[in-house]
Amino acid sequence: MKSVLLATKSLEQLTQEASSESSGLKRVLGPWHLVFLGIGAIVGAGIFVMTGHVAAQYAGPAVTLSIVLAGVTCAFAGLCYAEFASLIPIAGSAYTYAYSTLGEIFAWIIGWDLILEYSVGATTVAIGWSGYVVSFLKGIGINFPAVFADAPFAFDPKTGAWTKTGALINLPALLIIALITYVLVHGIRESATVNSVIVFLKIAIILVFVGAGLFFIKPELWKPFIPANQGQSGFFGWSGILRGAGVMFFAYLGFDAVSTAAQEAKNPKRDMPIGILGSLFACTAIYIVFSLVLTGVVPYAQLNVTAPVAVAIDAMRLFWLSPLIKIAAIIGLMSVMMVQLMGQPRIFYTMAKDGLLPPAAAKVHPKYGTPHVTTIITGLAVSIAASFLPMGIVGELVSIGTLFAFAIVCGGVLVLRYTRPDIPRPFKTPLVPLVPVLGIFSCVYLMTFLSRDTWIRLIAWMAIGLVIYFTYGIRKSKLRRRS
Ligand code: ALA
Repeated sequence: MKSVLLATKSLEQLTQEASSESSGLKRVLGPWHLVFLGIGAIVGAGIFVMTGHVAAQYAGPAVTLSIVLAGVTCAFAGLCYAEFASLIPIAGSAYTYAYSTLGEIFAWIIGWDLILEYSVGATTVAIGWSGYVVSFLKGIGINFPAVFADAPFAFDPKTGAWTKTGALINLPALLIIALITYVLVHGIRESATVNSVIVFLKIAIILVFVGAGLFFIKPELWKPFIPANQGQSGFFGWSGILRGAGVMFFAYLGFDAVSTAAQEAKNPKRDMPIGILGSLFACTAIYIVFSLVLTGVVPYAQLNVTAPVAVAIDAMRLFWLSPLIKIAAIIGLMSVMMVQLMGQPRIFYTMAKDGLLPPAAAKVHPKYGTPHVTTIITGLAVSIAASFLPMGIVGELVSIGTLFAFAIVCGGVLVLRYTRPDIPRPFKTPLVPLVPVLGIFSCVYLMTFLSRDTWIRLIAWMAIGLVIYFTYGIRKSKLRRRS
């Protein structure tokens, strides 16, 4: 039993599986598509909403340092992802990396965990998107009925209290997931093109904001850059910066989604590291400049609102820019959801190919070349979740699930360097073992900032996953049958 659970797939076997002829997926994505996929997945609610929230509540102008720290954590994980993605160009991302290094049981655990990152992540962003749309419509005089704009219950993670919202369903969230699912079924190239257009738009608007903001910066607003701690850990001072880094981590989620498109990349060995690291560094640069402008234009205490950028624009008296920024946020969040909803079905697809999920999940559409069955199932599940679940439940779950996945990927790089030092690695994580060890450490450290309830939910989710594995996956596993 033990040997089966820990059996790993050989790299040679994985490479053979990666050939697109056997998968049916189309190799159509170049390096720019991949970098854009990454930026499309990363820039979203994190930058448009959380920067202001962290500045006002935890870090002041030093939110920029929180952003740098969160970026460094992601860079450790990103360097490890890049080594794997160039080595094992298969659609399953961290799931596949775990299969080849740590064994089937770890692969299952990580695959199951990634549902938190991708599906629950898309749920979270859909709920945020709905909020932005309703507020935008209100701004132009259209009142979307509140009863159709929220989940029936709200949850406060601080107190653990549930309250009725008076709403029935979050209809905008449902509709946007349905629309994106439709696009995704119709072809990855089309989806990547839509994504590239969105990325252009949102980056252009951010650059306009930053460019205009440079003329309105009042350097005195940055003093003191690190406001003194207020007596309670986590509120300003260095502990506030660290706590802010835990929250800002959400803003970076998505760079790893590039790795789920590995089987659709024309030259994955070269282009996967470019896509992952390129998008990560581009976004870090954007975030740093963006946060400096934000806190340089408005006193940080005024930024704890849903649309902090709009506050900054009003302070600059550039009222024409305000609706454009809101539209950019609305459109920008769409590409985040698109990449998340593209990643999830491809992980399910790979798990089904391995026999750990029913074979129907490995079907590829004969005309569009997309894993349509898993795309539609994911779309249905996420649209139901986004219609009825409150933000308070889903937000932290995404962070804990992702940090867990990142830690395992960093661990996997270490294991593979030890078990298979011989294989040629097109991209090598630098400074091994330092970088993977720092990656594991920083991910676990940020996990400790998340609430006890979130930890309990993670454990419960994993327990459900293990029951499914031991009642289904272990019997149907192709690896196990072969051996
Ligand atoms: N990084 C993504 C966002 O900020 C999840 O919306």
